[in-house]
Amino acid sequence: MCGIVGYTGFKPATPILLNGLVKLEYRGYDSAGLALAARNGSVQIIKKVGKIHNLISTVKHSKISPNVTSGIGHTRWATHGQPTDINAHPHSGCGNNVAVVHNGIIENYQQLKDQLKAKGHRFKSQTDSEVLAHLLEDELKKYPVEKAVPQALAKIEGTYSVVIIDQSKPDTLIGARSGGGALVVGLGKGENFLASDVSALLAYTREVFYLEDHEMVIVTPQGVTVLNLSNGKTVKKQVAEIAWTAEQAEKGGYPHFMLKEIMEQPTALQDTFTGRLDPSTGKVILEGAFWSSPYLKQFKKITLLGMGTSYYAALVGKFLLEKYLRIQVEVDNASEFRYRNPIVDKKTLVVVISQSGETVDTLTALREAKSKGAKIIAICNVMGSSVTRESEAVLLTRAGPEIGVASTKAFTTQLGAFWLLTLHLAGVRRAMKPAELRKKSHELAKVPLQMESVLKQTKAIEKVAKEYSTYFNFLYLGRGFQYPIALEGALKLKEISYIHAEGYPGGEMKHGPIALIDSKMPVVAIALKSSSTYEKMLNNIEEVKARKGKILAVIEKGDKEARRKANSVLEIPAVAEDISPMLSVLPLQLMAYEIAKLKRREIDQPRNLAKSVTVE
Ligand code: AGP
Repeated sequence: MCGIVGYTGFKPATPILLNGLVKLEYRGYDSAGLALAARNGSVQIIKKVGKIHNLISTVKHSKISPNVTSGIGHTRWATHGQPTDINAHPHSGCGNNVAVVHNGIIENYQQLKDQLKAKGHRFKSQTDSEVLAHLLEDELKKYPVEKAVPQALAKIEGTYSVVIIDQSKPDTLIGARSGGGALVVGLGKGENFLASDVSALLAYTREVFYLEDHEMVIVTPQGVTVLNLSNGKTVKKQVAEIAWTAEQAEKGGYPHFMLKEIMEQPTALQDTFTGRLDPSTGKVILEGAFWSSPYLKQFKKITLLGMGTSYYAALVGKFLLEKYLRIQVEVDNASEFRYRNPIVDKKTLVVVISQSGETVDTLTALREAKSKGAKIIAICNVMGSSVTRESEAVLLTRAGPEIGVASTKAFTTQLGAFWLLTLHLAGVRRAMKPAELRKKSHELAKVPLQMESVLKQTKAIEKVAKEYSTYFNFLYLGRGFQYPIALEGALKLKEISYIHAEGYPGGEMKHGPIALIDSKMPVVAIALKSSSTYEKMLNNIEEVKARKGKILAVIEKGDKEARRKANSVLEIPAVAEDISPMLSVLPLQLMAYEIAKLKRREIDQPRNLAKSVTVE
């Protein structure tokens, strides 16, 4: 998620804005900028791709009057358009009278852009956010900024957290939000602040309140006024005193980035679907010409490539694509693929999966496939990364920056991206009927809320973690769609708690692993009633119990039979088998986290691991 900072008061704004942006760097970004309300009746925008020091050196060489005492700043995490100077925020309209910074996704930006272009507006960037600046420019011709903002926002479909500055009222900032992530107001004496999280404000104030969805705030050096965007009524806000340290603030109050990112998964998945999945029609709308190219009807085979968690996401992707497209789908560990002289040609669609987009094995495998004529799609979380730049098309997971080394929200948004890919291809290739597409789209639209319900079970998971934290070896078993989840659950445990854990297909038990089973080798079994192999998993559980093994089962809520057979259970809502991986992985992520916490591990930076393996 991008970072926002705003200041209006009696001090020079520039250093305050830059310090705030530096405090937001931890969130990850690809460009940064600021807009200053000069007293000469214009808004001055300075923005640069890359790290904030690029912006700072540009600011140093720019003419900025020291008596500029209000402005806004932004760190961008690209969702539409490559990371470039032009695509960086803030954005202005055709003139330089207004500037806006935006977090969120404007679903109807293309339609608004076409309408504005038809009215003579000229666009500079590829972003959705710039549309808002042009809408504001039009409304400011008719209304003062306090009225122009609600008028412009009323035209937006999608999510936003925005801060606007307009030259006609240079000391006034307008903030507003609707689903675009946090917007916090910081209160000072003769000065006031806005930011996307408190870490940007702590150096100046600890008196804050948060905007709720559909609220707008008018901020001047003298005070702040909050209005309800739906009815224009004034809203009274409760001011809180932030007791967090700066480090705690960066984690949003969570003890670790990993836990914060586990809890962000519902929002991350919702963001990944927003503007792309239309449950009413079952249509999937993806950005870029590639998605409507005839090639999508012509390719004969799909190869999926990735490493680690991304490889496990690919295994789930295989199940989905084969189930609905009835086409051959190979999955390969990228480091194996690249040395095997693989059978790939121009009729092979290759999908590379990578959170960072910089994993050297995945990048090299991509190049190997490309050299053999394959078309490449990237499912990636970092726009502008090497993998995205070398692919024909990118299906961006909008998870926002993933700081914890152990991948969590990137994984579930990769699964969401595979659903978007599957439904899109199934629609294009007429492999699914419209009614089926609508049915699955409706089911998918419910998953973010279902995730919320699973993530609420922290007490139950803490209890299970305590019970299982003293073991030295684990076996994770799953079948079908749950086999990759067994692998991923085992990876989570081993990489952050350093406990040995292996994932296996349940059917493999009798071919060796069962020799390991005794009272010191707990088995995590994913046994969901919706699964076509549920009974087989119950048999696995019996086999383990017969050898004094201990069973922790991931089951559907209310499944009495599985509950009776297991020693402990972790529950998820009953959903379709092919939807369930996005839910069944959640308790395993949380259990790994809680066990690692009990063992006092370096959870965000586990030993020997890097967030992105860019060297062999
Ligand atoms: C997952 O928790 C690990 N950090 C690791 O396996 C990771 O998934 C793998 O290195 C691939 O990274 P990527 O998705 O950035 O390519």
